[in-house]
Amino acid sequence: MKKTPPRTVHDFILWAARLFDNADLYFGHGTDNVQDEAAWLVGSALKISPSKLDACLKDELSLEQQNTLHALVDARITTRKPLAYLINEAWFAGLKFYVDERVIVPRSLTAEFITEQFQPWVKPAQVHRILDLCTGSGCMAIALAQAFPQARVDAADISLDALAVARINVENYGLRERVRLLRSDLFSALKSERYDLIVTNPPYAANDEMKMLPPEYRHEPALALASGERGLDTITTILAQVPKHLNANGVLVAEVGNSAITLQQDFPTVPFMWLSTSAGDESVFLLTAEQLQHHHSALARAP
Ligand SMILES: C[S@@+](CC[C@H](N)C(=O)[O-])C[C@H]1O[C@@H](n2cnc3c(N)ncnc32)[C@H](O)[C@@H]1O
Repeated sequence: MKKTPPRTVHDFILWAARLFDNADLYFGHGTDNVQDEAAWLVGSALKISPSKLDACLKDELSLEQQNTLHALVDARITTRKPLAYLINEAWFAGLKFYVDERVIVPRSLTAEFITEQFQPWVKPAQVHRILDLCTGSGCMAIALAQAFPQARVDAADISLDALAVARINVENYGLRERVRLLRSDLFSALKSERYDLIVTNPPYAANDEMKMLPPEYRHEPALALASGERGLDTITTILAQVPKHLNANGVLVAEVGNSAITLQQDFPTVPFMWLSTSAGDESVFLLTAEQLQHHHSALARAP
């Protein structure tokens, strides 16, 4: 690696981007290209908010700042850790979260639907109780609490490690009164609870997929990614159990990534509504409580 890094913010971003490019890193934990990753690293390390970075591009860096950035770039390349873990920061739905290796790096495509309150499918005024199942860092629970200020949110995860990180985020956002953290194996600790909206980003990687993941993913908890032979173990259990946890006008929104096709094939009669993100992805589906009730016998008989 070049010993003396450039001196301005702008030059440093270009320098880092070039090194990232040569190192053949994988992006997908907050950014999807070298340039954005480099800008995120530099901005975060220098404590410049993303909106102010452009205005600081000509700033000269002190030797100490240069050394800090040099060490971070080096760590990103040699350890292959997602940048989010190196700087303990991730962004989701426009909000900043604390993260470390106890949780997956937030990146769910559900974010853009949360900020739009899932309209037109959900009537925000009717949403009083929300469940974020498989909450991880708590990013969705907190974004949901912000998007639905009148609602109370339960955030459940099986991992005590994840819940400890979620606790930090709930405290940071001052949401202790409205976001309740629960340890639960899916719905097991939520016995008779019912919700107007259940949102989930469960693990959905198939065993073969797990073996082929780039090194960056190996720093994330396997519990957050792996979901059996075909990647459908968790979502099929959720689909079988969710009807009794939704109010009559309730809605389930779930992300299933690449497993969307297999899921639809396994349940050909179920009218999954695949929500299109601005990037054109279709890996998040919505089902109403009525649809889930109607197809309950098919969903309870997972292949
Ligand atoms: C894909 S991560 C999603 C985390 C977070 N919602 C996000 O979008 O960044 C899945 C989460 O599900 C949790 N999990 C895995 N199996 C679970 C289970 N049986 N019951 C509850 N949570 C589970 C993992 O600990 C992990 O935090």
